[in-house]
Formats: sequence, structure tokens, C-alpha cells
Amino acid sequence: MDNQTQLDAFYAELENDSLQGLWRVVRNMMSRTPSSPARPFHWQWPRLRRHLDAAAELIGVADIAKADRVADRRVLVLVNPGLKERNTTTPTIAASLQLIRPGEVAPAHRHSSTAIRFMIDGHGAFSAVDGEKFCMEPGDLVLTPSMAWHNHGNETDRPVVWMDGLDAPLMMQLCAFFYDDYPKDEHEIVRSPGFSVKKYAAGGLRPMPSAGSSGVSPLWHYRFEDAYRALSNLAQVEVDPVEGAALDYVNPLTGGHALPTIGCRIQLLPAGFAGAAHRHTGHVIYHVVKGEGCTTMGEERFPWQQGDCFVLPPWLWHKHESAGHGESILFSMSDVPVLEALQLYKEELQPQL
Ligand SMILES: [Fe+2]
Ligand SMILES: [Fe+2]
Repeated sequence: MDNQTQLDAFYAELENDSLQGLWRVVRNMMSRTPSSPARPFHWQWPRLRRHLDAAAELIGVADIAKADRVADRRVLVLVNPGLKERNTTTPTIAASLQLIRPGEVAPAHRHSSTAIRFMIDGHGAFSAVDGEKFCMEPGDLVLTPSMAWHNHGNETDRPVVWMDGLDAPLMMQLCAFFYDDYPKDEHEIVRSPGFSVKKYAAGGLRPMPSAGSSGVSPLWHYRFEDAYRALSNLAQVEVDPVEGAALDYVNPLTGGHALPTIGCRIQLLPAGFAGAAHRHTGHVIYHVVKGEGCTTMGEERFPWQQGDCFVLPPWLWHKHESAGHGESILFSMSDVPVLEALQLYKEELQPQL
């Protein structure tokens, strides 16, 4: 028997015994620098809006719910071209846009996946989280911590659109997904309107008692008017050369990330801002809240305007620019809190030539 035949027989025996020679597969298990199946990609608002409006006409939420209660929502997932088979935006976070027509509700449920909502268009639709109802204005952020009961609805007379972000892909990879339906369509409201904002959005003051924080923010509604005021104040005194005036949404009890798996940030790029290039670990999904500009990722330029979304894979040089005629505001979510917890967050500035 020649050597190749012996080897083939050996590999076949290994496979039969559920073994594999690491030397044959190690290239698929390691990389010298971070690599991701996600690609830099950009979704333009006019097309997103057109598809959402078509979905509003064609897709009845009640009809979907009859077939599968878990699927009872009209949501377009931002599918990264590198992750088509997984139908997700990055390997850790799925971002999507949801349109809710007047009178529609998403019945109450909970899951181990952490979620956020970021309001894009429309006034006064609500998300109810663990007994508190949050009416959302454009630019507002509402958190849905892991295993918090939640239901959504639109009691206004116009359709609303918000962005959802879920760490569902990460939960699936960790095989840690739980999902429960609530016995009723709506969870009981047990807190007065504005409870969480009145108690925890205290402008740098911390309510007592402060002990016992679980690491998840008890503040679940971050209003745009507060974020914008803070951004404008910051921009008057300090603008970071890479990020502009940038603020992270934090747990007011700890100062740490608001959520353990999704990092949320809002940043203001002054008119004419030309950011320095850097790269870091972590995927980032951006939504343009206001203005227009351009983000360069790798060799490619992605001009953006209000309503657009784009995604940045890890360890790719990138820089942001804002158009000269007005400020721009970007909201983003990332898997940076996970990387930081695992001591895997790494960042570097591109050397100037
Ligand atoms: Fe949910
Ligand atoms: Fe960055």
C-alpha cells in the first residue's frame, strides 16, 4: 500500500471515530488578524422606506401570527451579503426595521436575547417593557433587557418605523436562547408613565439605594432631546478627532454599558468634520439620524444621508466625514461590551503617512 493510500485510510478511520487531524483544519479555525464573514455594506433610506411601505400593504401581521405566533411582526432584517445563509447583519447582532400600522400590536413575549428599539419615524407608538409603557419620539432609544416581558403597539393614526437590534445571533451561537409567550396580548402596566426616566435619568445624580445593580441599566428609555442636548454641549467643548462628539448610553448606576451584549452610542459630527481613520475589534451597525456625509471602510467610500444604515466589520480601517453644510448625527450599536468583557477589545489609529 502506498503512502497516500495509507493516509486516506487513516483519515477515513479518524472520521469514523469522530476525530480530525488539526493540521488539516486549523486554517479554518484561526486567523492572524480578526476576520468576519460580515462585509462593509450600506442600505439607503429611500429603498428601505419603499420596501417597508410595500410590506405594510402586502403583509398582514395578524395573518403571519395565525401561522406562527413568534413571527407576528412586520420586520425587514438588514441582511449582510456575507451572512445571507444566517439572515443577520453581523455574526452577533441582527438589525432590522419594523413598520407598525395604526392599531397593530405585537403580543407580549420575552426572550433571553437582549434587544433595543431606536425610533426612526412617527410619534407616540409604544414599547412596553416589564410593566412600563414607553411612548417613543424620533431618536429615542428603548432597551429590552434579556427576559424582560415586552409588547409593542401603535395607538396613533400613522404608521411608525423603528430600528430593532437583537443579539439573537450571539444567543444562537452560545446556544442560550429561551423564548416565552405571555398568556395575554399585553403585559399589565404596573409603573406610572415616565417612571424609569424620572428615577434614573437624573443628570449625573444616582438614586439611592445604588447597591445591587445587575449590570443591566434600570433606565430603559433614553430620550433624544436629552441625548441631543448632551451632544450639543459636548461638541461645544470637545470633538474627538476620530468619533466627533460621541456619547455612549450607559447604566446610570455603574457608568458601564447600558446592556451587557449591545453597546449603543450616539455621535455628532460637526459640519465639515473629517475624522481620522482607525480600526478596532467589534462589529458596528450605524443608523443616520440626521444630516449627510460619508464613511470610508477599507478602500470603499459609502456616502450616506438621513435614514440610511451601514455596517462595519472588525479590524477594518474606517473614517467618518460630515458634509459641509450642517451637522450629522449617527446612532450605532455594536458587540463591543462583549469584547471588553472578554478583554478582546483592541483599537488603533491609522499611522499618518
Ligand atoms: Fe421580542
Ligand atoms: Fe470606529
